[in-house]
Amino acid sequence: MIDRATIDRIYAAADIVEVVSDFVTLRKKGVNYQACCPFHNEKTPSFIVSPTKGLFKCFGCGKGGNAVTFVMEHEKMSYVEALKYVAKKYGIEVHEKPLTEEEQRHNDDRESMMILNSFAADYFRYALHDTDEGRSVGMSYFRSRGFTDATIEKFQLGYCPRGGDTFTQAALKAGYKEEFLTATGLTIKKENNSYWDRFSERVIFPIHTMSGRVLAFGGRTLRTDKHVAKYQNSPESEIYSKKMTLYGIFFAKKAIAQLKNAILVEGYTDVISMHQAGVENVVASSGTSLTVEQVKLLRRFTENVTVIYDGDSAGIKASLRGIDMILREGLNVRVVLLPDGEDPDSFAKSHNATEVQDFIRTNEEDFLTFKARILMNDCKDDIIQRSAVVTDMVESISKIPDPIPRAMYIKECARIMDVDEQLLTGEVARKRLALRTSDAEADEFIRRQNAQRRAEESATLAASSAQGISAGSSIEELEKELTKYLLKYGHLDFEFREGRQSVSLNVAETIIGELQANGIEFHDKNYRTLYNHYVELFAELGKGTEIPMHHFITDPDAEVCNAAVDLLTADDNYIASKLWKKHDITVESEQDRLSKAVPRAVILYKSKVIEEITAQLQARLADESLPDETVAELTHRIAALNKERMTIAKRLSRLIL
Ligand code: CTP
Ligand code: MN
Repeated sequence: MIDRATIDRIYAAADIVEVVSDFVTLRKKGVNYQACCPFHNEKTPSFIVSPTKGLFKCFGCGKGGNAVTFVMEHEKMSYVEALKYVAKKYGIEVHEKPLTEEEQRHNDDRESMMILNSFAADYFRYALHDTDEGRSVGMSYFRSRGFTDATIEKFQLGYCPRGGDTFTQAALKAGYKEEFLTATGLTIKKENNSYWDRFSERVIFPIHTMSGRVLAFGGRTLRTDKHVAKYQNSPESEIYSKKMTLYGIFFAKKAIAQLKNAILVEGYTDVISMHQAGVENVVASSGTSLTVEQVKLLRRFTENVTVIYDGDSAGIKASLRGIDMILREGLNVRVVLLPDGEDPDSFAKSHNATEVQDFIRTNEEDFLTFKARILMNDCKDDIIQRSAVVTDMVESISKIPDPIPRAMYIKECARIMDVDEQLLTGEVARKRLALRTSDAEADEFIRRQNAQRRAEESATLAASSAQGISAGSSIEELEKELTKYLLKYGHLDFEFREGRQSVSLNVAETIIGELQANGIEFHDKNYRTLYNHYVELFAELGKGTEIPMHHFITDPDAEVCNAAVDLLTADDNYIASKLWKKHDITVESEQDRLSKAVPRAVILYKSKVIEEITAQLQARLADESLPDETVAELTHRIAALNKERMTIAKRLSRLIL
């Protein structure tokens, strides 16, 4: 954990515009900055960054937060990772609190495994280069595959000697613990307690993290025996998850970002040969079909993916489905089919970089048209098969989140499959409706629904709030209103008139005082957190001190942070302001309205809460088995509450008049 003082320093240093600009191109608009939202697809910008408030907010999808939560969201980092990222950007030294014993042990274990892997990688390299066996067996194999010294060095290829436990014995002798040898899977401990090198007699392909550390290995056998698995890979472990890893990403990330395109191949040797030929934006999913996690990883560098298939790949059809998932992530997928009998490895060996790149450029085909063509090829004139293909294509096309490319695909596929475009459009629309409840798109749909609902809500709120909130407002709406006054105007005074009297009251003191006097707690978790936080700071700083926004928008709970941003940007909501204009309402500023609005909100809220308590008490009274004295007590309390409500109603009507 990072200590509070450091966190404060990081927040103080972070310039939201600078931080966001590293990922999104911002345009200045008045005092704020604007862009198309990086968190959802949109054509007109509704993503706003406010340098003065230190926050960002998307009025389309509702996401909002501060510099740190932006990095968390955008880079899929944890809170601590994001803090460290911002700290690094501003040259702030991070002091971490001592870890708990448990955390320490966990960290130590992971680190020990990484260190052991690094030892193993060095050992396998040594065994390849500096032992007779390595040179005669391993090196001659790599040579036969046409790998140059530079390539072998770059990818840190190695060799694990025969003998069964040669490597394990060397590692134990060097002081590495059995515990980590088995945890990384480098060593298999047999039932009779003897050791077995997982990669014995195999050439080694280390698998690197994004930053170049070795987190796993692939080992290829040199035997042609069908009974021996061609590859052995490190098992899943504390440090290695196959589905989160792309082979070659460390070597490819720079080229991918520069070329704005990633080439996806199947295996280790494909990646290596492509690099050797000079094509460096290449990664492999390592034999599995691509996972969502891998796609998200790629997405950090580019939106364009080109998948290369072997000319005779039997797996093409199986993998077609996997690619639907890439489409859903909104990536642009293109496909290249290599000439018959070639794989990326062999093709890259017989061609130079320019030839490989030219081949890709002239042969790459949009994924969906590729899919339609492949599937249509197979079914000739069989009507049933053809209609199955149409269904399949409808399924794929319906995954595309953006309407414009979607419409283009419909047109193209209608042509390829020779069906009516209108019909296809209708089917896709229907599929999208059905999809909404069935898979990940549901999330996207719900998000849009919510955004729309929020927009509508704030529009009605704006329309009705010429007078502020109303008696019909829900408890949560009132809590939101109260929290807003507290956070934005808590330090200000307002004139409160009751009868002939007029007194000057402090906003925060009034709200907190009224609620505490009645022992009322906010129902909504987020507003309660913000309220409590304010009360704490208010007690510390005293009446009249303006509490800087960053206290609220830096809450580690993303939901609380988002709620705070919502409150603080409520005035900036362009939908609302448009509506105000449309209805020709002269807008008195929120601050002008404090004299009426604060007491109104407090009173409405109290009356709502009392109503709620009364209802609960009345519900209890319905129980006929209650002892008489309880009934009397409940009745008494209800009467008292009713009286209080009458008083409140009177005060309220006075306020309104
Ligand atoms: N793979 C695996 N385990 C296997 C077979 C394959 O993990 N038993 C993974 C490897 O990452 C491999 C990729 O799937 O690189 C592609 O498999 P394949 O085409 O069979 O291997 P190549 O890398 O092409 O190896 P080679 O050219 O040496 O046959
Ligand atoms: Mn191969």
